[in-house]
Amino acid sequence: MPTATFSIWRGDASHGALKDYSTEVSEGMVVLDAVHQIQAAQAGDLACRWNCKAGKCGSCSAEINGKPRLMCMTRLDQLDLTRPVTVEPMRAFPPVKDLVTDVSWNFRVKKKIKPFTPRPPDAPDGTWRMAQADIDRVQEFRKCIECFLCQDVCHVLRDHHKHEEFIGPRYLVYAAALEMHPLDTADRLDELRQAFGVGYCNITKCCTNVCPEDIAITDNAIIPLKERVVDEFYEPLGWLWRKWKG
Ligand code: SF4
Ligand code: SF4
Ligand code: FES
Repeated sequence: MPTATFSIWRGDASHGALKDYSTEVSEGMVVLDAVHQIQAAQAGDLACRWNCKAGKCGSCSAEINGKPRLMCMTRLDQLDLTRPVTVEPMRAFPPVKDLVTDVSWNFRVKKKIKPFTPRPPDAPDGTWRMAQADIDRVQEFRKCIECFLCQDVCHVLRDHHKHEEFIGPRYLVYAAALEMHPLDTADRLDELRQAFGVGYCNITKCCTNVCPEDIAITDNAIIPLKERVVDEFYEPLGWLWRKWKG
């Protein structure tokens, strides 16, 4: 059986380095299979996070040959196995051990966003009426598996470390799903402009390019949010009209 070499980052919060492991590879394998083989036979203390092995739990995020990807959805036949395949933890979050990072910042960010606040029911039986077109608009955002690959690749977080001022593409998608929901009544535009830092995004689309769920993060979530913020706060006629109307 052929073998391939995997350069896996081993270490913790204080230090770490790539370490090479050779393992047998066969048709149909994904990177997570190789990592598990190495864990089982050569490095029992190798830490990696995974749950579903089906691209749905968002746990196995890593940087494979420098690109943020799900280990369970990266087939070895997509990679050049004539050279070592690098497998590193996400770099936008603090390392815990080996391929595991501390992504808890994301869950703290989520708590800061005003939750879904529906209007009163439209009918006496407690149900609502919505247009299908309005539902279709937000359905895409609900595919998110919270893998945080988009957060990892975003230069505002990864390179500029604006974690205190910018919620990142994942949570702009989440905010868009709420803001555009046909039943929601909460207003998150002031937070988006200030505390959530939507203005930091310069629409490079790196987040969109790595999303395993193919969510059009920039075009369908971030740009419409930016437009809403501009309309609300920087469009003078609209601002005057709203002032006058109270
Ligand atoms: S488009 Fe915006 S949110 Fe997405 S990676 Fe670029 S700067 Fe970050
Ligand atoms: S938007 Fe896409 S890349 Fe970002 S967390 Fe959700 S599924 Fe992952
Ligand atoms: S193990 Fe669940 S997404 Fe990879």
